[in-house]
Amino acid sequence: MEKKNIKFHIIKLINILYKIYRLFYLRKKVIKLRKIINNYNYRYYILNNSNILDYQYDKLLTQLIKLEHLYPYLKNKNSPTQLVGAKVKSYILQKKKKHKIPMLSLNNVFNENNLFKKFFSPINKRINSSSFCCELKFDGIAINLLYKNGYLVSAITRGDGNIGENIIKNVLQIKNIPHILKGKNLPNILEVRGEIFITKKKFKLLNQKKLNQNKLFSNTRSATLGILKLNKNINKKIFNLLNFFSYGIGFTNKNFFLNQQEILKKLQYYGIPICKHTKVYSSYYEIINFYKYFKKKRYFLPYNIDGIVIKINNIKKQNIFGCTNHAPKWAIAYKFPSQEKLTSLKKVIFQIGRTGILTPIANFHTVNINGVNINFATLYNINEIKRLNLKIGDKIIIQRCGDVIPKVTNVVINEKCTRKRKNILIPKRCPSCNSILNKKKNNILYCTSELFCKAQLKAYLKHFISRNAMNISFIGEKLIDKLVDKNLIKNSVDLLNLNNFVLSKIENLGNKSIEKILKCLKKKHKVTFNRFLFSLGIPEVGIVTSNIISFFFKTLEDFLNTNLIKLQNITNIGEKTALNILNYIKKKHNINIIQNLLKKIDIIYTNNISKKNFFYQKKIVITGRFKFITRYNLVNQLRILGAIINNNISKKTNILILGIKPSSKLLKATKFNIKIINENKIIYLLNQISNFEKY
Ligand code: IVH
Repeated sequence: MEKKNIKFHIIKLINILYKIYRLFYLRKKVIKLRKIINNYNYRYYILNNSNILDYQYDKLLTQLIKLEHLYPYLKNKNSPTQLVGAKVKSYILQKKKKHKIPMLSLNNVFNENNLFKKFFSPINKRINSSSFCCELKFDGIAINLLYKNGYLVSAITRGDGNIGENIIKNVLQIKNIPHILKGKNLPNILEVRGEIFITKKKFKLLNQKKLNQNKLFSNTRSATLGILKLNKNINKKIFNLLNFFSYGIGFTNKNFFLNQQEILKKLQYYGIPICKHTKVYSSYYEIINFYKYFKKKRYFLPYNIDGIVIKINNIKKQNIFGCTNHAPKWAIAYKFPSQEKLTSLKKVIFQIGRTGILTPIANFHTVNINGVNINFATLYNINEIKRLNLKIGDKIIIQRCGDVIPKVTNVVINEKCTRKRKNILIPKRCPSCNSILNKKKNNILYCTSELFCKAQLKAYLKHFISRNAMNISFIGEKLIDKLVDKNLIKNSVDLLNLNNFVLSKIENLGNKSIEKILKCLKKKHKVTFNRFLFSLGIPEVGIVTSNIISFFFKTLEDFLNTNLIKLQNITNIGEKTALNILNYIKKKHNINIIQNLLKKIDIIYTNNISKKNFFYQKKIVITGRFKFITRYNLVNQLRILGAIINNNISKKTNILILGIKPSSKLLKATKFNIKIINENKIIYLLNQISNFEKY
């Protein structure tokens, strides 16, 4: 009996020992399997160089899933079985997601002067020396990748900086974004910030093969965005076209980094792709050279960049400077200037503008600048053709800067080419109404037919409906073209009196559109006095002059009864403008038009505007030259608004208005911490006041 008992216990013990052994064995096997799978994942997702066949990989993963299922105590949240299939899917359902730390933008500068003024000078004032991390500015779409315990769980677009869209489903398909981080001591939470982009080569492929449902993209940035936003019935292979570079981190629970360079190195250690061209410099000379080098080298890079980013390297120093709501003060984007392209001139087209001036337009072989195809550029006026000594067939340089109209900046003289060059024939008659063109003192040609010329009538009516004038959006520019071409309208009154009979003569204009236009025209249109004056299209009376007139004359009647002396008494209205105004209000035809317009329009007089406005009683100093407004006009406008204009900066100055090439007033103003407003901003503010209470 005893023997039997001992045997039983031995068997039991062996069983237990076997179970313990099996447990260890299985644990070891699971760990080994996880390691192998993680390695394959790394090769596949990060190195983009898988060395295992799909079915072999699936076999390994199935083995691991089975083991974890049979022995739940072996489960681990860091297991590759928890990736994508299980864990991530639940995140995919969430659309909008908050960033743990807001995703800021960057302040931009376009030249060395501003780089010093806006970035280096303020830094130099507070810290003695510093080193800067210089990076490329990738031209793509910003993304915030959230890794929890090393696993990618969400990918949020920048959105408004606080909340973005979780596009994890699509981001998971991008090959060089790791689903799992590698390396030791991973932080539990890590926000990886960077840019998703498409290389130049893949962009070409995308458009050549029309991979995106036959649609073409105009530049790499819009292509990246287009692909990232795709959601239904798409071939997942399209995401193979995208790439990612990280340029930093957001939130992390393990924040022990000393500098930006260290952050990038750590990210690389975790398996995150970073760009190899980052450099740390401590002299401006080297930073400027880095910029100059990549300004040229960018054409040879496989992806598009639009500048460089300069960041204070030391994190503690970064924190001294902090951020505004919009951008960090410790970093700046030093952008490349607008791109220039060489092409050749095919022909010159002549157009008549609102004021009858003949404008030559250059038509050249298509060039792509910053991702936009261009084949037309303005030549401003006849004198510009002479200045450039431009001929048909010439090699020309086209420049496009932001949203500004492209222009011809230069002619490249090629001696061998001289035989092919053909003179540009300057028209003697108006290309629109065929009347003989007149010449101004400065040789500029213009058509005298005014609104009898269809080109001028079209341009005037487009001015009449524009935002700063009547702000009519229910009538489009194309409709105006058709109405004028068909001789259905002759002036602005006809436009406001459009009826069903006239509109039904326009092809492709549906009943619903007609109904909408007629419904809008039924109501009396409300417009402020200054905008009404601007809408009349009097030569030389732009929005700024219209504002001044509207302050000077209390009512339209006052204005229509004015005389040359009164007009010239308005300090900032010159003789030429005064004569133009007088010439306009003397014509019976114009008064007729105004009287008829008043049947459809209510003018709003904004009497107390000057006391409510931003500039009222502010002490203002002006420095430098201005591009879009004369200093004379600026001073007068500000005075009308109740501002006090001073010549010199003192502690009591409230605002410095900054133009090009400022004097030492700028330095003084920065010393006293005085608010500085540049030309764009001042024009914006003045326009806002003039558009005050838009109707
Ligand atoms: S740093 C708080 N570094 O440029 C710092 N941004 O125009 C924020 N960008 O939204 C960004 N390359 O998407 C940084 N090397 C780089 C960058 C970079 C491209 C993007 C980024 C940002 C935008 C601002």
